[in-house]
Amino acid sequence: MPLEDFLSDLESLESSAESAFRTAQDSQSLEAARVEFLGARSGRLKAVQKELGRLDRAEKPVAGKRFNEVKKRLESLYEEKKALLNQATTASSDKEIFDPTLPGRTFRLGHLHPITQTIETLKEIMGRLGFSVAEGPEVEDAWHNFDALHIPESHPARDPLDNFYLATASQQDENTLLLRSQTSTVQIRVMESTPPPVRIISLGRVYRPDTADATHYPMFHQIEGLLVDRQVTMADLKSVLRLFAVSYFGEEVHIRFRPSFFPFTEPSVEVDMSWHEGWIEMGGAGMVDPAVLSAVGYDPEEVTGFAFGLGVERICMRRHGITDIRELYRNDVRFLRQFP
Ligand code: PHE
Repeated sequence: MPLEDFLSDLESLESSAESAFRTAQDSQSLEAARVEFLGARSGRLKAVQKELGRLDRAEKPVAGKRFNEVKKRLESLYEEKKALLNQATTASSDKEIFDPTLPGRTFRLGHLHPITQTIETLKEIMGRLGFSVAEGPEVEDAWHNFDALHIPESHPARDPLDNFYLATASQQDENTLLLRSQTSTVQIRVMESTPPPVRIISLGRVYRPDTADATHYPMFHQIEGLLVDRQVTMADLKSVLRLFAVSYFGEEVHIRFRPSFFPFTEPSVEVDMSWHEGWIEMGGAGMVDPAVLSAVGYDPEEVTGFAFGLGVERICMRRHGITDIRELYRNDVRFLRQFP
């Protein structure tokens, strides 16, 4: 074979390989071109290499040099193109990850605890009835928790086993501190600091060392109400509690008073509510005992008042059909999420 033929074969192979590499649109067509031209067994360059052996010995060095140049050039053209295509794939897959039309990742918004929600609703309902919110401390003295409420020293409600005292039984007097066992303490605090008329509610935690079960928990919440004015009667008490119950639970709720006793109200009642299927005790109420009014400096001949104290957990549980008070304080989001 003459040298010119060999060189022109080589040249045409070079230009077709070059254009095949340059025009390859993706890695598959580039690979096909690589196999066709640079393939180790049946590639077209391999075929030209075989012709090299059939050249005259004198022509071999020139032909061989040229052959090596072409081979090197095509190999590097191939590598360049391969790198280019790889870059393009990564770039385009980056583009797929950032798709501005996809919906964003949403935050799971939290919400208020069902007891907090209940408290907010109760404040709103009672606010519409003209009651403003008063607060008192959770660490309370025996005066406000017992003495001022006419709960005598000997009363079982003061039993150390029924209260979280912050001092031993032998050290107790009016100043003894305890975690308040009822929100009635706030009645006293409000009347001590405000002349009549008063119309307040107070919502907050109270503490009693009860063993936790489906209906008891050593910490729970009460809503206390107090209204003192001229000529306040038991009928006002019942009207307010009925309006309150209907606003919160709806028209189907019934309310009943059962005679009872509290040292700081006279007469005293238990407040029951019913939804056509038996009565549920919601708390206590009554007319503020004249002795309590006197103790805070009010004139019982001038003013009368009513007070009530209801369990917030009971109200909340009844509304949502919760049957175990402990669920409210387990802090299990699967439970809490049900009350958005
Ligand atoms: N403080 C009472 C209790 O915790 C409830 C109550 C409040 C009763 C106000 C009468 C008046 O049981």
